[in-house]
Amino acid sequence: MVERLISIPNDDDDNDNFQDILVQHDDNSFPNESNMNKKISNGDCMMLPLPFYLMLHVFQHHLQRLLDNNNNISSMIHSSSYGSNQDNENQPLLRRCFDNDSIQIINNYFPDDQEFNQLIRDVEQSIDNGFLPKRISQGSSGSYFVKNHDGTKIIGVFKPKDEEPYGRLNPKWTKWMHKLCCPCCFGRSCLVPNQGYLSEAGAWIVDRKLQLNIVPKTRIVKLASVTFNYSAIDRAKSRTKKNVTERFPKVGRHFNRIGLPPKVGSLQKYVENYEDACIWLRKAETLLDENLLEIFQLEFEKLVVLDYIIRNTDRGNDNWLVKQEYNDDGELNFIKIAAIDNGLAFPFKHPDEWRAYPYYWAWLSFAKKPFSDNICRLVLQQLSDMNFVQELCDELFNLFSSDKGFDRNIFEKQMSVMRGQILNLTQALKDQKTPQQLIQMPAIIMEKSRMPNAGGKGRLRTMKDNFTQSFQRKTPFFSWF
Ligand SMILES: Nc1ncnc2c1ncn2[C@@H]1O[C@H](COP(=O)(O)OP(=O)(O)O)[C@@H](O)[C@H]1O
Ligand SMILES: [Mg+2]
Repeated sequence: MVERLISIPNDDDDNDNFQDILVQHDDNSFPNESNMNKKISNGDCMMLPLPFYLMLHVFQHHLQRLLDNNNNISSMIHSSSYGSNQDNENQPLLRRCFDNDSIQIINNYFPDDQEFNQLIRDVEQSIDNGFLPKRISQGSSGSYFVKNHDGTKIIGVFKPKDEEPYGRLNPKWTKWMHKLCCPCCFGRSCLVPNQGYLSEAGAWIVDRKLQLNIVPKTRIVKLASVTFNYSAIDRAKSRTKKNVTERFPKVGRHFNRIGLPPKVGSLQKYVENYEDACIWLRKAETLLDENLLEIFQLEFEKLVVLDYIIRNTDRGNDNWLVKQEYNDDGELNFIKIAAIDNGLAFPFKHPDEWRAYPYYWAWLSFAKKPFSDNICRLVLQQLSDMNFVQELCDELFNLFSSDKGFDRNIFEKQMSVMRGQILNLTQALKDQKTPQQLIQMPAIIMEKSRMPNAGGKGRLRTMKDNFTQSFQRKTPFFSWF
């Protein structure tokens, strides 16, 4: 096998104004990391004529696009109303200047949130100090525990966009098998593919807006670490730049970035001393006296409110956590819930194909009690206010529109589902229904359109929002899982 190192013109996301380097194998085998590294470290570099550079550059570009497209196609494989040609036609001809990871984020800085700035600085420092993110073994996505600057404790959970359950670089073999052996059941047809990280951050926005305080703070950041799952090409590029920089420092100075490309994803604050609800629920009955029961019931109802509004399709009892708090005398005096793993929410239609994606809390005894006055006091007034709901939609728009795959029509559908959910929830709270009764209410879609205001005079006509309410009649084939 003959290997050559070839310099090609580069316009990748680094904006390096020098040439990028690619390894080509003459026997057409896919390059693996060890043989690339071996050759690169030998410094066996050969310069080729310009037409060759261009050809390879085009090849690299197409290969990257092929990988990206492949990912999109497989994610949308049975998504009927998403990913049509029309979507492509809606894309602007001139692409916006987003980076490789498709989101406009600068320096992991949040002017309105010093607490989170502190958290992300701590995480960046820990990676610099060699305390690398560690993949969480449970779960279906590439999720990582990240540590503080001296590596003594876990402070966050990072979920990169491209390692989501159906993402291009998902590291879990179960999802790979799922994709390979059962493509017809692959993905969730009601969800926008590969936007789980937005859903995670969106759930926190809903939580904050309603002051539920059950979702740990979650925002979108960019991180790089060798422990993340990268493509062989990305690893080779980074290694090559490092070697070039070491051997030819003058040339290396032209690279903007030497290391692996940062990945965009959601970073959620790690909450301490919580346990999985499925474990805690086994001992719940023996723990809860009347006072604690009332406290827990409110926490539980907050979870119901959150899940119902975002139409969470993945609320198993392993995706929420419970913490017991004790007073100075060591008596249990408070119980708190943390709603984690909110990446499979904000559908653009109600589930209507194979699976119903039930809320698993619906089988608990707490779901058979009418909504309490406490929860009504907390959320009912806000949810009944159309301006409040519009503000919420606007905040979600700011978040979701930062993704390169953002489609305004799809987003409007997501908001139509959410508004329908809010309408049902408001009615259920007013009627003091139980959570179990709430989830049996017919699924509503509330579409927004802009109409000329009938009250407008003369040539100055104003626009007003018009809402059309409809019921989704199609129901899932299986409703028990
Ligand atoms: N914010 C958090 N605070 C504390 N523990 C967490 C947090 N997020 C996740 N975990 C722990 O990590 C496990 C896997 O996280 P999860 O978000 O469910 O990942 P996945 O998407 O892979 O299922 C959870 O069961 C929980 O024990
Ligand atoms: Mg999970």
